Amino acid sequence: MENSSYFILARVFHVVGVVLWIGGVAFVTTVLLASLKQSPNGETRLKLFEQLEGKFAFQARITTLITGLSGFYMLEAMNAWGRYQHLQFWWLHLMTFVWFIFTLVLFVLEPLFLRRRFHQRAMLDSDKAFALIHRMHRVLLTLSLLSVVGAVAGAHGFRFFQEPVG
Ligand code: HEM
Repeated sequence: MENSSYFILARVFHVVGVVLWIGGVAFVTTVLLASLKQSPNGETRLKLFEQLEGKFAFQARITTLITGLSGFYMLEAMNAWGRYQHLQFWWLHLMTFVWFIFTLVLFVLEPLFLRRRFHQRAMLDSDKAFALIHRMHRVLLTLSLLSVVGAVAGAHGFRFFQEPVG
């Protein structure tokens, strides 16, 4: 099954989704937020952030969907749901966790209240609001990169540790 064209295509979609999505998160974290924090004008900073992040949020929603669908398809095709019961597949747990958090934020929390809450906070104290959002992005980027490292090594046969038998 792992050599079938559909499976290989799913892996291609998965990785391209991850590149566009996590690459974008890396840009927002290490370039956009890092330079906006240095801008002295709180209002310009907020306007720019909302403009650029808003555009990226659309890309992130599409790529999160593609990554999740192709990931679950691969699990089904490999009949590998049982991996969730084994700690040595921690990278699968981490990937799924990262995906779940982003899905929750992008599809539920942001449209419901996060965007509005951030705008209000930034109007009251721009430095504090941007420091907080930068910290949150750094945490998510770190977890995402850890997933990528674990997934590439794990998917290609690296055993991080041996689980005790019985
Ligand atoms: C619903 C969430 C996800 C599921 C169900 C899922 C599932 C999978 C599966 C089944 C594989 C193939 C493993 C194998 O060949 O043994 C895989 C590979 C991979 N996944 Fe995910 N994944 C998800 C989310 C993510 C996320 C959020 C990232 C990145 C942050 C990610 C990055 C990768 C990478 C880099 C590979 C390795 C590709 C390769 O080298 O062949 N995945 N994933």
